[in-house]
Amino acid sequence: MSGSEAPGFAERVVAWQRAHGRQDLPWQGSRDPYAVWVSEIMLQQTRVETVIPYYGRFLERFPDVASLAAAGEDAVLALWSGLGYYSRARNLHRAATSVMEACGGAFPGRFEDIVRLPGVGRSTAGAVAVFAHGERKAILDGNVKRVLSRCFGVPGWPGEREVENRLWALAEALLPHEGLVAYTQGLMDLGATVCRRGKPRCEACPLGEACVANREGSQAKLPAARPRKALPERRTHMLVLLHAGEVLLEKRPASGIWGGLWSLPECAPEDDAAGRARALGYEAEPLAPLPELLHGFTHFRLRIRPQPLSVARRPAAAAEPGRLWLALAEARAAALPAPVRRILERLEAP
Ligand code: ADE
Repeated sequence: MSGSEAPGFAERVVAWQRAHGRQDLPWQGSRDPYAVWVSEIMLQQTRVETVIPYYGRFLERFPDVASLAAAGEDAVLALWSGLGYYSRARNLHRAATSVMEACGGAFPGRFEDIVRLPGVGRSTAGAVAVFAHGERKAILDGNVKRVLSRCFGVPGWPGEREVENRLWALAEALLPHEGLVAYTQGLMDLGATVCRRGKPRCEACPLGEACVANREGSQAKLPAARPRKALPERRTHMLVLLHAGEVLLEKRPASGIWGGLWSLPECAPEDDAAGRARALGYEAEPLAPLPELLHGFTHFRLRIRPQPLSVARRPAAAAEPGRLWLALAEARAAALPAPVRRILERLEAP
């Protein structure tokens, strides 16, 4: 994708920003790279409304890089208190110190120098370079990733390197030669006020039918969500002890998974099921195992191997407390964990 493949993209964004974008954010008036840098660091992962009062207080207390460098870290952190992500404040202070040492207090103007400061990534450096110097640089923060993913139908999770590279290539290719401040601000404003994550206001978007997601109705699917982390897997064997049409159920402890439900006795996969049955007081013959089940919990998956066993003789005494022999039909009606219910349903009624 190149700029010429998306005719009018930048023009539409620029015109929309001038007519409908935000014009009086407190940092918009300034071309002082120090002030722009402070605002862009504060705006990382933080909403505009939250940042506004902090920005005012910060610039009042530290109006230039020299005053920031001269302050103690504690004073900087105190002014940052409540804004979150405190490494940003520590990096800001460190960067100010290094600017004083390396550049004699002149805040760097070129992208290449800004991007070397601690806490400044490619997108933040791009924003500072555009807003302070009108440099022709791309930005790609979370909002812009969403606008581009939707407009150009870029599949995949933007946190993935390949997807991110593709979005950066798009961001670069779409850059106009003029109106960079309005264009960059326009992308940010669109992402924050129109192309919102939930309930995007496509009817108010200057990209209209040029947007793939709007045309296809795929706004909710773009950008793709972070893939779910593979959950760890635990394994267990469940003993299905059967005798004369009855099955042995075991009540689970009140706390923990399936707390208080009726389940099946279990043993570790490396343990012998007949041995476990013996420990429960039953001589039992293993029958053909049933198919495994996979059950998902929030933090792990449980792979269950149901092992039916035929109990030749039941002791005359009733099962001890917390254990119960029930006819299969009755057992299926008990308060069972879902996979235990499925196991019992798979058993052919004798
Ligand atoms: N988010 C990041 N930078 C911003 C800016 N300069 N204005 C509004 N929102 C932003």
